[in-house]
Amino acid sequence: MANFPKDFFWGAAAAAYQIEGSAPIDGKGACVWDMFSAIPGKTFEGHSGASACDHYHRYEADAAMMSELGIPNYRLSISWPRILPAGRSAINAKGVDFYDRLVDVLLAKGIQPWVTLFHWDYPYELYKLGGWLNPESPQWFAEYVQIVVEKLSDRVSRWMTINEPQCFVGLGHQTGYHAPGDRLGLKEVLQAAHHVLIAHGRAVQVIRSHARTGPTIGWAPCGAMAMPEDESSSADIEAARKAVFCFGPGNPLYSPAEPLWSVAWWSDAAVLGRYPEGELEVYGGAAPMFTEEEMRTIAQPLDFYGVNIYNGTVVRAGGDGGIERVPRAPGAPVTALKWPVTPTSLYWGPKFLNERYNLPVVVTENGLSGMDWVSLDGRVHDSQRIDFLQRYLRELDRAIGDGVDVRGYFQWSIMDNFEWSEGYKERFGLVHVDYETQKRTPKDSAYWYRDVITTNGRVL
Ligand code: NOJ
Repeated sequence: MANFPKDFFWGAAAAAYQIEGSAPIDGKGACVWDMFSAIPGKTFEGHSGASACDHYHRYEADAAMMSELGIPNYRLSISWPRILPAGRSAINAKGVDFYDRLVDVLLAKGIQPWVTLFHWDYPYELYKLGGWLNPESPQWFAEYVQIVVEKLSDRVSRWMTINEPQCFVGLGHQTGYHAPGDRLGLKEVLQAAHHVLIAHGRAVQVIRSHARTGPTIGWAPCGAMAMPEDESSSADIEAARKAVFCFGPGNPLYSPAEPLWSVAWWSDAAVLGRYPEGELEVYGGAAPMFTEEEMRTIAQPLDFYGVNIYNGTVVRAGGDGGIERVPRAPGAPVTALKWPVTPTSLYWGPKFLNERYNLPVVVTENGLSGMDWVSLDGRVHDSQRIDFLQRYLRELDRAIGDGVDVRGYFQWSIMDNFEWSEGYKERFGLVHVDYETQKRTPKDSAYWYRDVITTNGRVL
């Protein structure tokens, strides 16, 4: 075991809105999540990111803690409305200064920052102007990105444009389960998605032309992963591959109600420069209007394919080249959030993505929500997290051993945080956070993960 290359990027991740505290201090503007969570019933017990982990004030201690836990790479995101309170024009110097100091502190502790430019905290003022439905939205994003890159790229060289467009467009604009809570029809949703893709491409262009070091650029989409029931059956493997990339009727991963979970819709556009034919057909008149030039803008060369993988669906070949979903066995393991535990998704996911998109893969998120609390002995014994990560990382190791080009792995999350509509009920962290006192307690898994990192996976 242990095929991880010597320069493998081990890390942990978090996002601005989920940990910083989003109260309107130091000139910060509101984002759609501030507004959404203020509406009764939208988040668990009305929780919001107003104080979260108060990382905005505790970033120095948090960086020191990460360093003690041996985290060499930290994936963070920048809050757009902290930099530009109205989303564009006037810059909030104190907001810029915060990230400036954060990057300095991380580097001083020997931690490399990996920066996500958009992780869902969309400026409310821009939302009032139509948000992602506005054709100007890619330009707004590009202007914001330029400010960040000009300020930080002397020290930051690793960038991700957007995080999980499937979620903030699909859940945010179609099902209304996430902020801003819109329930748009398919045509409008796909148009918004198209603008998001253009924004991604524009961001890549801006980073390439303005970065002072590097840059190494990727993104962090999620996707519906599928795994073959029988790994020795080429028909089952083909069924899994089709389930991931060929959305449409007959695909058990496809729900006509929520089509945006498609990997190919987003990634074929961003990497191959075209929307998948099959889906264009399925969407018919609802497909977005696009020009060739827009498709060229979207498909900027990337340095890595970042992907957030938590689980997947087991499938097998059905009759006539069809795909069958394999029912989950009674009592099959699930996390606290009731997500299935499917370690092989970290084998087949990177493998399929690396094959199709021919880019090095970085797992930008993987992890689980657990029933973690501080025990009477003062420690947090999250043995299920250790077991989960061990199973998943062994599969990632196997993928690398089989020749899949995987360059990094980020554990979600460095600390418990605001889990969007689920509020603080879910705990994804390596470090436990007591939200009353803001006390941090590294869980057993944090020390275990430190050993994984220092041995480059040999303890797995
Ligand atoms: C996806 C998102 O990027 C992150 O914000 C979220 O907390 C985790 N996965 C867990 O749901």
